[in-house]
Amino acid sequence: MFARFRRKRINPVLRSLLQETHLRTDDFIYPLFARSGTGIKNEVASMPGVYQMSIDEIVKECEVLKKLGIYAVILFGIPDVKDSVGSDALCEHGIIAQTIRAVKNAHPDMFVVTDLCFCEYTDHGHCGVLDPVLHTVDNDITLSNLAAQAVIHAKAGADMIAPSGMMDGMITAIRKGLDHAGFENLPIMSYSTKFASAYYGPFRDVAESAPSFGDRRSYQMNPANRNEAIAESMEDEKEGADILMVKPALAYLDIVRDIKNNTTLPLAVYNVSGEYAMLKMAAKAGVIDYDRVMMETLLAFKRAGADIIITYHAKEAAVLLQK
Ligand code: PBG
Ligand code: ZN
Repeated sequence: MFARFRRKRINPVLRSLLQETHLRTDDFIYPLFARSGTGIKNEVASMPGVYQMSIDEIVKECEVLKKLGIYAVILFGIPDVKDSVGSDALCEHGIIAQTIRAVKNAHPDMFVVTDLCFCEYTDHGHCGVLDPVLHTVDNDITLSNLAAQAVIHAKAGADMIAPSGMMDGMITAIRKGLDHAGFENLPIMSYSTKFASAYYGPFRDVAESAPSFGDRRSYQMNPANRNEAIAESMEDEKEGADILMVKPALAYLDIVRDIKNNTTLPLAVYNVSGEYAMLKMAAKAGVIDYDRVMMETLLAFKRAGADIIITYHAKEAAVLLQK
């Protein structure tokens, strides 16, 4: 006696009936990169199909996204001027504040998430203010700046704040800052388990945010650590995060499942720049069926336990899901 699994694989209708995991366009958040100017849409060499855009182009892009059924974006800013604290991010007229206002004004139905960090805004490229003795980010000074940055995003009309800096206590500090300013209904999606990953390489080209010295290993996690990965997300849940995240996604599907099994909160994954670039370049080289590999990869995130997928593939996947 043996089991006939194939009995249920022969008829395509039955195969569909029995499909356990489904991808939907509603699962996606699409990243956008804003810079000053007008009519600017510069493709990034390492990420075909991804652009730095001026605000007017971002507003136009949102129209395209909505036609595809994508109603959620995450915004990153590339300021004109960078300094040691990242002042552009702490200013109501900074690039991100301006972009949020423009997008919400033109598209009130677009759900605007903002990446909350300082690495795009500091001249040294680290995710906060530097401690002159330790030569790494000063955790607690950065916390008060993060709270201030969050309030600026909130006042500009952001629908959700996504802190990505991996500072200890960041959710407590941001929640307190938001509540104090009257934004107790604004959700926080924490980059709660974020690894120090080489997969962020192409992102640092598009966001112009590579650190000028050293690396991010004193605040982002060691890719080797599973217990710590769970503990990081559990801590952010305790501090009041509304949604947790694992980043990167593809090389960390075990961690996605571990965290899913340890929380009742919704879980996001960030399908990062290097993961996207690998598929693009493999397609260019003619060695994979891009569409199928992309959909299989995105489906794997859902199966591993993700509820939300932040992905540069969102538009391409949405087109395929319409068929
Ligand atoms: C900012 C931030 C990064 C990414 C998202 N937010 C870069 C980093 O931590 O170096 C990476 C996204 C990607 O690679 O697509 N802290
Ligand atoms: Zn950062």
